Amino acid sequence: MTANTEYKAWRVEEQDGAYVGREQTLNTADLPDGEVLIRVSHSSLNYKDALSASGNKGVTRSYPHTPGVDAAGEVVESAVANFTPGSQVIVTGFDLGMNTDGGFGEFIRVPAAWCVPMPAGWNARTAMIYGTAGLTAGLCVQKLLTMGAAPEQGPVAVSGASGAVGSVAVELLAKLGFDVVAISGKAEHEAELKRLGANEVVGRDALAESKKPLVKPVFANAVDTVGGNPLAELLKQIQPGGSVACCGLVAGPQLPTTVLPFILRGVNLLGVDSVEIPLADKRQVWGKLSQDWACTATEASARDIGRGELDSALKAFLEGASAGKIVLDHQR
Ligand SMILES: NC(=O)c1ccc[n+]([C@@H]2O[C@H](COP(=O)([O-])OP(=O)(O)OC[C@H]3O[C@@H](n4cnc5c(N)ncnc54)[C@H](OP(=O)(O)O)[C@@H]3O)[C@@H](O)[C@H]2O)c1
Repeated sequence: MTANTEYKAWRVEEQDGAYVGREQTLNTADLPDGEVLIRVSHSSLNYKDALSASGNKGVTRSYPHTPGVDAAGEVVESAVANFTPGSQVIVTGFDLGMNTDGGFGEFIRVPAAWCVPMPAGWNARTAMIYGTAGLTAGLCVQKLLTMGAAPEQGPVAVSGASGAVGSVAVELLAKLGFDVVAISGKAEHEAELKRLGANEVVGRDALAESKKPLVKPVFANAVDTVGGNPLAELLKQIQPGGSVACCGLVAGPQLPTTVLPFILRGVNLLGVDSVEIPLADKRQVWGKLSQDWACTATEASARDIGRGELDSALKAFLEGASAGKIVLDHQR
């Protein structure tokens, strides 16, 4: 029944050097080999999807391509015993949506080693409210906690606070009792960031370039989603022994810093990868997000879109104008 099933996907093609996405009808027979065929009901929007959709060869080497680094839905066919047809699964990261057709199509076929069983109490939409961004925020917070971060040490900063990763990090840290300072370029988003739990919202100029190698340390710890010069400035503002969990590069991949924050203040720079880490590590954070770490304000404010709205929603990511969590609902 599913060997040759037609389905809809938002597919990106190269046309005269430009990359154009539009809905197309594809066939499951053309999906890559894999052990598990999944009917995707929901996906989630990430900065990386915007890079894939705009022809970034560091993310996607060849086109036509169906982006979507996140997918959740129902197993339709499975070659392995632990994923039976009808069960609900989450797939995030690995090669999904990069060079393997991703969650912006109604079907994916992937290795079983990429699939996480849906946590109890969640459905596909809930999982995709978090998506890779929520998983990454959870991994950042977990790394800070592993390093001994605690609310009594002082404020924790979140850069790119209104973004997909940043907004979940703000709510999760606030929920865990931290005094969260949200750093955001969107003044109009202040009320929303406070609703998520930020104690204070400051502009991106808090991380404006300074010539000094170190400045007054104001943050005990931080989650950085932007990289580049803002991360270099953030490192100068971390209290002795504090940590920065670093996961993003929207402000650039370079890190023009000195060793001074590290050798004079013992600051820790913690790298966070959500893509290639062991499945067991992903499962652990999914489990927490579905229970004690549930971000109910994020869940309540997530925005649902259909495939027809993907183009404009993805362009907003590239402009730094996207905010909060956006779920792709294939039924819309
Ligand atoms: N390591 C991993 O496994 C992993 C996983 C997921 C995402 N990421 C990375 O994390 C980053 C954030 O992803 P996302 O999906 O949350 O993207 P996003 O929704 O676009 O959020 C990024 C936020 O950063 C701020 N920003 C944008 N351009 C900026 C600039 N030039 N300078 C300073 N701030 C800027 C904006 O927030 P404000 O307007 O509030 O400042 C923006 O909303 C991306 O680089 C993504 O690739 C990494």
